[in-house]
Amino acid sequence: MTSDALMNNYGTRTMSLVKGEGAWAWDDQDKRYLDALAGIAVCGLGHAHPAVTAAIQEQAGKLVHCSNLYNIPAQEQLADVLKGVSGMTNMFFGNSGAEANEAAIKLARLHGHRKNIDVPTIIVMENSFHGRTLATLTATGNRKVHAGFEPLVRGFARAPFDDIEALQTIAANNQNVVAVMVEPIQGEGGVCIPADDYLKQLRVLCDENDWLLILDEIQTANGRTGSFFHYQQHDIYPDVVTIAKGLGNGMPIGACLARGPASELMQPGNHGSTFGGNPVACAAAVATIAAIQQNRLCQRAATLGANLLEQFATQLADCNTVKEVRGKGLMIGIELTLPCAKLVGQAANAGLLINVTADNVIRLLPPLTFSDDQALQLIEILVPLIKAFSAES
Ligand SMILES: Cc1ncc(COP(=O)(O)O)c(C=O)c1O
Repeated sequence: MTSDALMNNYGTRTMSLVKGEGAWAWDDQDKRYLDALAGIAVCGLGHAHPAVTAAIQEQAGKLVHCSNLYNIPAQEQLADVLKGVSGMTNMFFGNSGAEANEAAIKLARLHGHRKNIDVPTIIVMENSFHGRTLATLTATGNRKVHAGFEPLVRGFARAPFDDIEALQTIAANNQNVVAVMVEPIQGEGGVCIPADDYLKQLRVLCDENDWLLILDEIQTANGRTGSFFHYQQHDIYPDVVTIAKGLGNGMPIGACLARGPASELMQPGNHGSTFGGNPVACAAAVATIAAIQQNRLCQRAATLGANLLEQFATQLADCNTVKEVRGKGLMIGIELTLPCAKLVGQAANAGLLINVTADNVIRLLPPLTFSDDQALQLIEILVPLIKAFSAES
């Protein structure tokens, strides 16, 4: 079913998913798919998780919306939970990743103006992705995302990812810099993992220059890479971190978390949202975090992810189009030597949902609840498809 009443920004979509349970999803023809994408890192607990469904139902039966003119108990509960999980101290809730990043960008500008910098500038990376609003698309390092939307927003400087020296050069030459905004692992850019000491070095550089370190953990957080936030594997705290995607297991919610001086920048009237921090979305997020913790899903993501990486690397070792198998936890990329978008349709025909990003990287983001058996099925379907693709290329 397609409607010509929709704008064409998503192009032609051939499949309609109508139902899900755990790592399984069904289309409108009742065909079942193993979902190794989870709504692009959204349904970390799988589809229709009972605890999240119950939390949504309970809150929806009491109060669906409440203006931010009033205290919202579910929002305060979520803030307390996230504070405990993150070590960050203050947060703002929006409805999406882009909104979380907008709040972070506004924090950076407030930080700059406090220092009397008229054109506060944020260093952002090549190959990054931060969203589709005007400021976040400007922050994004992909020409395709910019095209047609010029003029872009002022106040951003671009640097290569995973290159501390390039940032040191900018530090020496640009007095307007106030922050660095970076994904700890680039997701849309192709599951690009920087050097092990990159985040630590960024932290040092930001401290030396009084820059805010803003981590975009919209794709990497919520347990996906083996810890609730990825920075927790690097023994640092950012000044600002943004999350969304898996936070509400499918309910639209994003958050911008701050600590230290960055947590005191927002003043009444600086920022707001009608729907942000909505009670139903917050109740879903509280239930999601509880389920991640109770079921030790961060640890599960780490071990299952390591296992999957090893299996793929071994089984694809003789495949001449496979350039690299890489990942962290259940954020996995298989980079091929040539564009491979057609594998998405082939996998769907075989009952598997995957994604291809950056033209030639097969991206796997299965639910953190993926079972060993489901992991085996993923390998059994995907490896032969990649081998066949390789043989005919
Ligand atoms: C790292 C990162 N930042 C920001 C976003 C934008 O999030 P949203 O689509 O919820 O606005 C995404 C979405 O893919 C993302 O992966």
